[in-house]
Amino acid sequence: MIATAKRLDGIGEYYFSTKLREIDELNKQGKSIINLGIGSPDLPPHPDVIKVLQEEAAKPGVHGYQNYKGSPILRKAFADWYQQWYGVALNADTEVLPLIGSKEGIMHICMTYFEEGVAVLVPNPGYPTYSSAVKLSGATPVYYNLEGENNWMPDFDKLDELVAQYAQAPFKGVRGLFVNYPHMPTGQLATPELWQQLVAFAEKHDILIIHDNPYSFILNDKPASMLSVEGAKNRVIELNSLSKSHNMAGWRLGVLCSAKERIEEVLRFKTNMDSGMFLPMQLAAAKALTLGADWYNEVNKVYRARREKVYEMLDVLQCTYSKDQVGLFIWAAIPAGEKDGYAVSDKVLYNNNVFITPGGIFGSNGDKYIRISLCGSIERFEEAIKRIKQ
Ligand SMILES: Cc1ncc(COP(=O)(O)O)c(C=O)c1O
Repeated sequence: MIATAKRLDGIGEYYFSTKLREIDELNKQGKSIINLGIGSPDLPPHPDVIKVLQEEAAKPGVHGYQNYKGSPILRKAFADWYQQWYGVALNADTEVLPLIGSKEGIMHICMTYFEEGVAVLVPNPGYPTYSSAVKLSGATPVYYNLEGENNWMPDFDKLDELVAQYAQAPFKGVRGLFVNYPHMPTGQLATPELWQQLVAFAEKHDILIIHDNPYSFILNDKPASMLSVEGAKNRVIELNSLSKSHNMAGWRLGVLCSAKERIEEVLRFKTNMDSGMFLPMQLAAAKALTLGADWYNEVNKVYRARREKVYEMLDVLQCTYSKDQVGLFIWAAIPAGEKDGYAVSDKVLYNNNVFITPGGIFGSNGDKYIRISLCGSIERFEEAIKRIKQ
């Protein structure tokens, strides 16, 4: 038997990786499952973006290894995008690091800053990769509660308590905090005060904040960056992504923005892991970042119409939900009589051939919830509603 490394203890295969295999099996049995689980945009990128990729890929001199810090053209496009939409000034040469998707950035940050004995605060519920990446780095994820009664906002007194608790041996203290607004999976939008409070909290306890910001353009009139807080750059690393905002999830294009020192620290790890991205993709991404308000309006028009169908579906399932949610999903509380979101998800999968995500995969505070993705055509939602009604 080949032994696996100890660092994999307690790390399972990513939930969706396993679940998609099961759905494939069910499809092979002829079930034709409607998958409303995963947040992978089904719409294409803008045609001009594809055109740049095609034209650039046809050139002979673009196929070699690329700059480890990303193409200067892409870095400038990200800096201009931050200025235009978030009002945040970034130095394109020193404060912007293109990534092969923001998911890999989460791992790079953990490997750069965290280690055994260190505690890292992660939201419950939250994106499961935060805690897996923290565990893989050898550090300990410590969950902080986000609860519906508190609008899925952190309780700073409780955060202070956690910092004090993990300052005691055998721990070496809290070194980082993951945060993500618009929040996935709950769709909660941050308040401007929250950014200020978080930066002040990080200053007080001398910790690093990692703000994960992939949903700011989806069904949100006011895209915002945590880096807009005065002095935030030294304390905050913000991750962003073209996966959701530009329908480019499969392209794997993200960015990490922070102070020059943080970028250089992360590069010490990242330059040992990959050798840059295909230049035509970077140039096409730069094109995507120049798209104007029309692009975001068009995308959101589609999601708004689909959201109405999701509300209808949730009403059939007798779930309760807020209509103020932002992002690519609708988060809903299951009916009182149901055991948990897993039971509801299984029931709908096995009885109606529709897959929706159980909220519990995002942490115990999501146990009584389900999450439905807006990444499906109106027809698919209508068919799903029909199946569930039956
Ligand atoms: C909260 C959150 N962060 C990060 C990611 C990963 O995005 P990317 O495609 O840029 O790796 C996702 C993807 O679903 C997400 O939901």
